[in-house]
Amino acid sequence: MRTVFYIIVTPNMTDRLLEFVVFLLWILTSTIAENVVTFEHTDDRKLCTYFENTRHVEMEPGLVNCSWYTNAACCKRTEVTSVFSSNMMALYLATQDCQNRVNYMMCYFCSPDQYRWFKERKVHICSSFCDSTHAACKDAFYRGVRLGDIYKNGTAFCQAQTFEVVSSINCFKYDPTVFGSAHHLVIGHILLIPFIIEAVCAILH
Ligand SMILES: *[C@@H]1O[C@H](CO)[C@@H](O)[C@H](O)[C@H]1NC(C)=O
Ligand SMILES: *[C@@H]1O[C@H](CO)[C@@H](O)[C@H](O)[C@H]1NC(C)=O
Repeated sequence: MRTVFYIIVTPNMTDRLLEFVVFLLWILTSTIAENVVTFEHTDDRKLCTYFENTRHVEMEPGLVNCSWYTNAACCKRTEVTSVFSSNMMALYLATQDCQNRVNYMMCYFCSPDQYRWFKERKVHICSSFCDSTHAACKDAFYRGVRLGDIYKNGTAFCQAQTFEVVSSINCFKYDPTVFGSAHHLVIGHILLIPFIIEAVCAILH
């Protein structure tokens, strides 16, 4: 009777033990995976690919425009000031949403995430960012012409900035949360757009 009991219980226990070991291994692997991800997110030594890896992401106090990158930026305060004070053409009758989006696009060289999407010397921008910006800006005027008449769609608009339009997870995308309600620009005077890239390059290189 005892022997029979012994024989019945043992395989059962072995199964349980195996299950437990597998469970432990699973916990261990997922903890390691989680730590790797966390490490990547908190790594402040990310490279600044726009600046040809000669810089790492750093805190940059005093950013006036592009201020949302203060805690982790690739750009310097003086560079942003130069770009934003350069004599660019105005975009007239631009809505607040349009202005915010263009402003955000102009700050691409500050982004600490540029290593994900600034490759082969090009900004790889999300097609969704291009499409929504085109929709928000199509009724604004640039050099007397309606933007929607110059560029038929978001892709055409972004390509004119020499951006590479892509739809993947590693692309430059808009974060509307950086513009609080306190952020007001004077309508009709946003410093310009077309050739955001050229404007930035001319100043920084
Ligand atoms: C950049 O910042 C200056 C100073 O606050 C401001 O006057 C200007 O309107 C800003 N430009 C843009 C395009 O946000
Ligand atoms: C966008 O417009 C261009 C012409 O300006 C056209 O060649 C292209 O097919 C259009 N793309 C989409 C997705 O509609």
